[in-house]
Amino acid sequence: MRMYDCIVKKRNGGELTAEEIREFITGYVRGDIPDYQVSALMMAIYFQGMTQAETLALTMAMAESGDRLDLSRIPGVKVDKHSTGGVGDKTSLALTPMVAALGVPIAKMSGRGLGHTGGTIDKLESFSGFTTSIPTEQFEENVRSIGISIMGQTADLAPADKKLYALRDVTATVDQMSLIASSIMSKKLAAGADAIVLDVKTGSGAFMKTQEASVALAEEMVRIGNGAGRKTIAVISDMDQPLGYAVGNALEVKEAIDTLNGKGPADFTELCLTLGTYMLLVGGKARDEKEARAKLTEVIANGSALRKLAEFVAAQGGDPRQVYQPETLPKAEIMEEIPAPSDGYIAHIECSEIGICSLILGGGRETKESRIDLSVGLVLHRKVGDYVTKGDSLATIHANDRGKLETARERFLKAYTFSDTAVEQKPLIRDVIR
Ligand code: URA
Repeated sequence: MRMYDCIVKKRNGGELTAEEIREFITGYVRGDIPDYQVSALMMAIYFQGMTQAETLALTMAMAESGDRLDLSRIPGVKVDKHSTGGVGDKTSLALTPMVAALGVPIAKMSGRGLGHTGGTIDKLESFSGFTTSIPTEQFEENVRSIGISIMGQTADLAPADKKLYALRDVTATVDQMSLIASSIMSKKLAAGADAIVLDVKTGSGAFMKTQEASVALAEEMVRIGNGAGRKTIAVISDMDQPLGYAVGNALEVKEAIDTLNGKGPADFTELCLTLGTYMLLVGGKARDEKEARAKLTEVIANGSALRKLAEFVAAQGGDPRQVYQPETLPKAEIMEEIPAPSDGYIAHIECSEIGICSLILGGGRETKESRIDLSVGLVLHRKVGDYVTKGDSLATIHANDRGKLETARERFLKAYTFSDTAVEQKPLIRDVIR
């Protein structure tokens, strides 16, 4: 295979063979193919797209480019869950203990925050002492003994994706659907679960801004998952405004705990019940949606999901008392309300801007090396469709630095649009792709 020939073929709209794709990935990881040729190929793919066969071949080649987790020694159907990322998306924190409490083994690899979206690992580190840097043996042992473990992605999991993503990031070739689908699914396949439930976000705070694009991405990922022999379902969910009310690491942990206590925001609770339903169905722990929902509601009501969270936190070095006393989680020094500038219905919240406010306060990383402040963020009090009178509090900002607070406040107010007439709320769950 000559890399030059592959570039010409794709540039002219041809279809690469699985063999050509495998050789290009192997050669790139080995360092035999230079970045400039791969950049040219990525740009050709950006404009010409990839067929389903090419996308599957690329995913498999990247999944097989490094370590693959073998979870076969753990009994039961291991189910993974993945979100394409959003603002206030603390779903894994509440959902995984709910599902684990019902006997679905959770063996999950998670990441840190990216841009304006938060990461599960950063949030979990709000518990004192908690770590996701655990050896694979302990990860497996925890799944076997308590039914749940979450670890950070090892450097050798899908290294081809790591290298390719870094290149795409600086060559304006990230937002190509087949490349996104193969990037996400290569990591999921290498992480070894038997079944995968995907939460594909849509709207102003998501990677995919339109419903059409989100459905197309979801269909592509479901096809890849099923093509690779893993039962895969995707839920398309709203990200036109933050999920729940809390945005910021420890604040989101507290909201997830509130939810496991039965006192969570309605939208967030509903998303956990929906995704949990599909996780139970693919995991063989419920016969139908009605039974799954009833079981999930029960583990919240009887406290077993909360106890599972405490067990999981303790097993990974964290302080389980904080699950029962969330007021002991990291807390910011300054709390200030943001009053509504006028009367009216909230018509729109530019969701990614709320994520950026949290980042400005110190809750996210400006660069890869930044240390994040777990205590800062925002708690919204009103969401799209709510009526406010001038002066009503729209949100509370939690900050440790006055300058950052003022910058975030200015940006926050620009993210809101008000209307004199009532505003229709968009549904939370937009579609399910099986
Ligand atoms: N997330 C990923 O893991 N890969 C992409 O290409 C985009 C989002």
